[in-house]
Amino acid sequence: MTDRVVEAHVDDSGEEVFEQTLRPRSLEEYIGQQQVKKNLRIFMGAARKRSDVLEHVLLYGPPGLGKTTLANIIANEMGVAIKTTTGPAIERAGDLAAILTNLNEGDVLFIDEIHRLNKMVEEYLYPAMEDYRLDIVTGKGPAARTFRIDLAKFTIIGATTRMSLLSSPLRDRFGVTYHLDFYSPAECAQIVKRSARILNVEVEAEAAAEIGKRARGTARIANRLLKRVRDFAQVEHDGNVTLAIAERALADLQVDELGLDEIDRKLLLAIVEKYAGGPVGIETLAASTAQEADTLEDVYEPYLMQIGFLERTPRGRKITRRALEHLGLEMPQEEQTKFI
Ligand SMILES: Nc1ncnc2c1ncn2[C@@H]1O[C@H](COP(=O)(O)OP(=O)(O)OP(=O)(O)O)[C@@H](O)[C@H]1O
Ligand SMILES: [Mg+2]
Repeated sequence: MTDRVVEAHVDDSGEEVFEQTLRPRSLEEYIGQQQVKKNLRIFMGAARKRSDVLEHVLLYGPPGLGKTTLANIIANEMGVAIKTTTGPAIERAGDLAAILTNLNEGDVLFIDEIHRLNKMVEEYLYPAMEDYRLDIVTGKGPAARTFRIDLAKFTIIGATTRMSLLSSPLRDRFGVTYHLDFYSPAECAQIVKRSARILNVEVEAEAAAEIGKRARGTARIANRLLKRVRDFAQVEHDGNVTLAIAERALADLQVDELGLDEIDRKLLLAIVEKYAGGPVGIETLAASTAQEADTLEDVYEPYLMQIGFLERTPRGRKITRRALEHLGLEMPQEEQTKFI
């Protein structure tokens, strides 16, 4: 993992511990995502009224928007235990059986990166999700035996950043699907203020707003920028985060007013300089910016599309006039007609 400050994935410098302390525990504390919260309240309320186990829930959206947080909140509000695993960690049917037979009635099994489950495990998961049973086959040929294991009723919460990579039979087995959207700059500012309270840091309202604007609509990045700005304030100042301190710290981090960093700028520049603004295929773009195509699609693109800087066309990615204006670039005369 890079030490890119606006990287949406968790970094490996103890960020997980930092995130744990800032993680909202209830829907009440969870900022933004109004529609999702509203639907979830109804959905959970109805299950509680019927004294029923929650249907399986699928959460999707870009990294760092709060999927893991929300899964934990759901279990918390339902008053049930939650076990956490990831798609690639469940390698064999036996691994799945071991996990599922250990669940109690109503428990949540959170499967992160569920699009990375292997196909064989997925097949075993279908009857488990539908009828709470596992049919385990042992032996081969005439000696093969099938064991049926009945399971307690449980809830799977799956999370994915890549809905398109989820097989449709798996998708169909979820009762509800919630899409998490990027946060507005104001919501990011609220996240900054909430985290500052927990961390016991004084942050001026204008400073929180400035950090919120540059957080790429991502809760994780809002918290990370706050942490960096706090450190800067402690070294360079009395520890209080004023607007001036926040601006200086953010300039030091080379994060611009829209949250774009060096890599975003490189990516956009490559489209202009090497491919005349596009369209250019994602693989080509990945090669020419020395990034993985998956990372581009997962992490960089969604935000650049959200702010209207990139367009996805059947023939590849195209830069927009807005992006050119932001970068202070002009296209050669003959190319200009291509832009919307
Ligand atoms: N709605 C929210 N309000 C306040 N803080 C939030 C919210 N959503 C997420 N956060 C904060 O952002 C951090 C990242 O959230 P989380 O780990 O849930 O993201 P994720 O969607 O699971 O990311 P990934 O795809 O990388 O697993 C958490 O530590 C949490 O403190
Ligand atoms: Mg997560």
